[in-house]
Amino acid sequence: MIEILRGITELRAWRKALPHEASVGLVPTMGALHAGHISLVSLSRTQCDVTIASIFVNPLQFGPNEDLAKYPRPLENDLALLEAAGADAVFLPSVEELYPAGASTYVVEESVSLPLCGAFRPGHFRGVATIVLKLFNLVQPTRAFFGQKDAQQCAVIERMVRDLDVPVEIVRGAIIREADGLAMSSRNVYLSPEERRLAPLIRHSILAAVDAYAAGERNAATLVAKGRPLLEGDPAFTVQYWEVRDPQSLEALATIGERGALIAVAAYLGKTRLIDNQLL
Ligand code: PAF
Repeated sequence: MIEILRGITELRAWRKALPHEASVGLVPTMGALHAGHISLVSLSRTQCDVTIASIFVNPLQFGPNEDLAKYPRPLENDLALLEAAGADAVFLPSVEELYPAGASTYVVEESVSLPLCGAFRPGHFRGVATIVLKLFNLVQPTRAFFGQKDAQQCAVIERMVRDLDVPVEIVRGAIIREADGLAMSSRNVYLSPEERRLAPLIRHSILAAVDAYAAGERNAATLVAKGRPLLEGDPAFTVQYWEVRDPQSLEALATIGERGALIAVAAYLGKTRLIDNQLL
């Protein structure tokens, strides 16, 4: 049976009771779990003795006009999925406990968090880095598992761990896609049937650039010119960014060299903001 830990005292007691030598895998989530999250639980189970997931819709990472209030919270279903996936425990903290009145300390990464989503979602990565460091402090995991779909989030967390000497190994899990190529996301439930039909165009636009890269193209602007217009040409989408960047620093690239590159895309489809990416 999965152990349900509803607060910090319970979590700390659970952690203290684990054998000292046990490796602990943490899968931080905001719930509304899908096959992408479950793949991270499975990955953790192959690499760690004990796997704990957390479910916490973190208010600090939502902007004032974003979807915090309507973010899906299907808790019973999430618990059943975690249990079926073989997670050993799940941490379900409350907002009041994680952010006590007067909380005034934050984690701010000042480089990889600035472009791409950081430019369109001010404060988002401050909220992510703060909650993730708190979860690391509470759970003290050996490894923590994050989806490559949020490539910039992975880069910010990796930088934070390096810069602040946090004793945890960050593991990125592959993007899990629907059969038509749409990257799985908890926000896909917001799409109308018509929007859901159109949504794979994001992936198709990326694949146009992937094909050009496979054929030998290394000029970043040329790759952008292959993909971005495909998405911009459909009036259902409002593209926020469609870019080719360094995969670690997320700095702009002119030519793709040995370090490879990250194609990163964010677009609104109706009222739903979707992101996707591809490592080259
Ligand atoms: O990727 C997410 O679901 C969230 O950003 C995370 C890492 C759980 C922090 O709230």
